[in-house]
Amino acid sequence: MSTTLATINLRNTDVGEGLPLVFVHGFPLSRGVWKKQIDALQPSYRVIAPDLRGLGESETLPGPTTMEHYAADLHALFQKLTTGPVVLIGHSMGGYVALAFARQFPEMLSGLVLVGTKAGADSAHAAAGRRATADKVKIEGVRVVIDAMAPKMLAADNQDARLAELVLGFMSPSKPEGVIGALLGMAERPDATESLVDITVPTLVITGAEDILIPPAESEKLAKAIPLAQLSVIPHAGHLVSFEQPDAFNFVMKNWLIKSDLASPVEIN
Ligand code: MLT
Repeated sequence: MSTTLATINLRNTDVGEGLPLVFVHGFPLSRGVWKKQIDALQPSYRVIAPDLRGLGESETLPGPTTMEHYAADLHALFQKLTTGPVVLIGHSMGGYVALAFARQFPEMLSGLVLVGTKAGADSAHAAAGRRATADKVKIEGVRVVIDAMAPKMLAADNQDARLAELVLGFMSPSKPEGVIGALLGMAERPDATESLVDITVPTLVITGAEDILIPPAESEKLAKAIPLAQLSVIPHAGHLVSFEQPDAFNFVMKNWLIKSDLASPVEIN
């Protein structure tokens, strides 16, 4: 469905009933990456998965898109969909957004799942690299980013050409302005490390054991710093762990939801 907010029109999936689980994709991806989670969880939960602004099928606005912009979009979406507090699941850049959301709207969180992500800001070198890439996208289009990112999404030894093709499909609808906005926004995102201690909701940190984009050590740091966090390292998975190993990922998440008393009543059956 398409939801028109005060500032922007976001495309989102909204299915099932019960406790709202909101899945936020990474960069330069789109909500299709969560299909296996949506299918597995929608019999027991309300599952919402937006395309972030400028990515997937959502509209874009010019200028840098900060993590706070994305978080405010999510907040406006939740108001519009009258969700009440949600369990927010953020992958990679979606995790940066989830951490910004936790700082800005703690009252709207009932749980947090941080997937293949980290709290630290970009180094000056990395930020400069993102700005240079944004300049390239202006001239050469989103292909520059897709070609660089797609091969790093799955474990290096994963030879499944069908999965690699699907990954390309999740990236290809992204618009140049949206990709540029995200790159500039990530380059200026603040270090969220100090605010981790203020996260008081049950938190699950998940990483692919073979993630080369955001190595598992970053997830270990998150899990140590967040008071109620549990860490799960999933074998045979790279950066896009929920897509590459959906059964293992869903198993971990379902158990955590039940253990943390976040399950909808129907889920217990
Ligand atoms: C992502 O998957 O969202 C990106 O790897 C995040 C980043 O570039 O920092």
